[in-house]
Amino acid sequence: MTESPLTLTELRLLATAAGAAPSVHNSQPWRLRPTTNLHGMLVYSTPERAVPVADPDGRAMLISVGAALFNLRTAAHHLGRQATVRLSPDPPQPDLAAIIDLSEPLPDGGGNIPDLYAAIAHRHSSRQPFANRDVPEAVIGELIEAADDEGTTLEVLEEDGARRVLALTTEAEQRIAEDVARQAETRSWLRPEEPATDGIPLEALGPLDLDARVPMRGFTGHPPRPAVSAERFEALPQVAVIKTHGDHPNDWLRTGQAMERVWLLATTHGVRANILHQAVEWQETRWRLRDPAEGPGHVQLVMRLGFGPPGHPTPRRPVEEILDLSGHQLDQRSA
Ligand SMILES: Cc1cc2nc3c(=O)[nH]c(=O)nc-3n(C[C@H](O)[C@H](O)[C@H](O)COP(=O)(O)O)c2cc1C
Repeated sequence: MTESPLTLTELRLLATAAGAAPSVHNSQPWRLRPTTNLHGMLVYSTPERAVPVADPDGRAMLISVGAALFNLRTAAHHLGRQATVRLSPDPPQPDLAAIIDLSEPLPDGGGNIPDLYAAIAHRHSSRQPFANRDVPEAVIGELIEAADDEGTTLEVLEEDGARRVLALTTEAEQRIAEDVARQAETRSWLRPEEPATDGIPLEALGPLDLDARVPMRGFTGHPPRPAVSAERFEALPQVAVIKTHGDHPNDWLRTGQAMERVWLLATTHGVRANILHQAVEWQETRWRLRDPAEGPGHVQLVMRLGFGPPGHPTPRRPVEEILDLSGHQLDQRSA
């Protein structure tokens, strides 16, 4: 059975969910357009919202778009529609990241993703100290499986691996501190004054680690301005990396979908997360993030997991800005 064309209400629900995804510096580098027959959605990246100094290849931008894509799939699931995704379908249109067909109902048994819709509104980056309590093995197992289902590998690192990745992140953070252009770019995404529709409000930032074990990104500059407090973080942070076999735009889109699936699933278990991306932003530290004992694979993302406060919400662009309805007569259709 074929589903009816998407209504305005459904399109807005899909776009709102997609827009709630995490993105590098909360840049929200995406745009959505319904397909001509209103049976699907086109997902575009928006290079004008990129972070070009830290992310010259658009890798972090496409990871962000991948996260929006996963939220869109999750919202489709909520609407009882099966989402069939084609990544980077049309090379002559480099900004077209994916086409999603939504014309089929969910099959019996619920389709190929779990129902994570309710977690979308509760997932935030938590840059606060976490408790000295490990994420249970059973939950880690679920997260690994979720990343695997999205065509990527999630590795939750043992103590040695976690310390190695944190040391490389510290090294990368120091390099960023010495790089005027990167500092200026990061600071340009800070939003000290409300209201804003993108970027990071000061309330969403956390303290520095008193013991300098967890190298949080210095969004307010080096030394931090305004001054940032220091608190004791967890003694041994739980660090996970997402890896892919290849290192091409579709691998980045897959990484973003895996990141968001893992993050939403973690949220349903009360597990918090934040991204530590500094070491992935320098070719040399990124290369050294790879664990030679683990075989080939490109590290795309570093996540810190744990139990702690949920994180402060960040603003989003209005749905009218990300959902392009030009050419559609939707206002005359019943919502
Ligand atoms: C590719 C990517 C890289 C990111 N890098 C960092 C980072 O290095 N440090 C950090 O604190 N947050 C990082 N974030 C998290 C974003 O800042 C965050 O998702 C955004 O501000 C929106 O906030 P939210 O996650 O609470 O919705 C990253 C997110 C993505 C998708």
